[in-house]
Amino acid sequence: MSDAIQAVRGMNDVLPDEAELRLWLDGVVAAWFARYGYRPIRTPLLEHTGLFRRAIGEATDIVEKEMYTFTDALNNESLTLRPEATASTVRAAIEHSLVYDGPKRLWYAGPMYRHERPQKGRYREFTQFGAEAFGYPGPDVDAELIVMCAALWRELGLEGIRLELNTIGSAEERAAYRADLVKHLLAHASALDADAKRRLHTNPLRVLDSKNPLVQEVVASAPALMDYLGEASRAHFDGLRRLLTTAGVAFAVNPKLVRGLDYYNLTVFEWISDRLGAQGTVCGGGRYDGLFAQLGGKPAPGVGFAAGVERLVALLGAPVSTGPSAYLVHQGEGTLEYAFALGEELRAAGFAVVLHAGGGGFKAPMKKADASGAALA
Ligand code: HAM
Repeated sequence: MSDAIQAVRGMNDVLPDEAELRLWLDGVVAAWFARYGYRPIRTPLLEHTGLFRRAIGEATDIVEKEMYTFTDALNNESLTLRPEATASTVRAAIEHSLVYDGPKRLWYAGPMYRHERPQKGRYREFTQFGAEAFGYPGPDVDAELIVMCAALWRELGLEGIRLELNTIGSAEERAAYRADLVKHLLAHASALDADAKRRLHTNPLRVLDSKNPLVQEVVASAPALMDYLGEASRAHFDGLRRLLTTAGVAFAVNPKLVRGLDYYNLTVFEWISDRLGAQGTVCGGGRYDGLFAQLGGKPAPGVGFAAGVERLVALLGAPVSTGPSAYLVHQGEGTLEYAFALGEELRAAGFAVVLHAGGGGFKAPMKKADASGAALA
């Protein structure tokens, strides 16, 4: 066995018990998106590397160190396995002029790839389902996306998933804030760790969500982004909070929530479970009104989220396998042909039938029938 080839680190096989549960979840998710008027879209797993560099940002963890990037030697171009699907969905919307005749609500699901350090709840191949709403500038769709997540958690019977919410304003407001934040961080540079010192120059807002207690102390006395927001940004955030409150969705405003991708503006949010340890964020999203233009398209507002399927499945717990309706045992000369035909007849009538294969007496097949979970043999 020692020379047996194993799966790539951080990339997991989904065995039948869990695969059945995930197939069921896929159905629930598709029906839920349809109830809110979201239509499916599918984009390739591979994209030009430049798409993610431009959309997610050069100074993010994803682009700096987590992308599966390689040169396609046949055309000598740099390609990347998608680390997320917002960039691809916006690219597709621009390429196919999806918003020319009005706004669009879209959803997707599938594998994403990030070269992170694997641990429980963090994998190098993982699955997301997500929604992207294009062409809606107001906080109503931000609220809709959040309310629909709350409805899904309810439908799945998932309790204790809390909502953290923040606004990061416009690019101009953030630039003014960033300058003052950097000044503050420089004044306390001796208390910063290496990571914070590096980010101070590349992506200072990410210092806000540092897990290091010493850095957190510096952050606690830093200026607050909220104080740099203009009228329009405040009104957007107020509108969102009002809609959520009216809809009965509880939230906590977390002024340090900045998210790990650079395309966001205004609304950002995360759904977090405390039952999953360090990787407790089951869903994250926000608004990205600059992304269409950034990717060379006609400007259009965007907002969306993506949820991590592996993390949700961990919360869902043990799968319930139902087994087939019947296990068909045959014994003796000529019975195999009859069993084959009977099996087809039953399946045509809608029953799930497992035909015993591999011979044996009567006892062994009956044991297999038992083990299959079938209601009848
Ligand atoms: P994200 O926060 O990077 O956002 O990922 C969304 C969710 O995917 C996370 O909350 C987590 O549940 C799951 N996830 C991320 N990385 C991993 C991993 N290595 N292993 C397992 N699960 C993981 C985005 O991807 C944005 N595109 C979301 C979005 C859509 N924003 C606007 N529209």
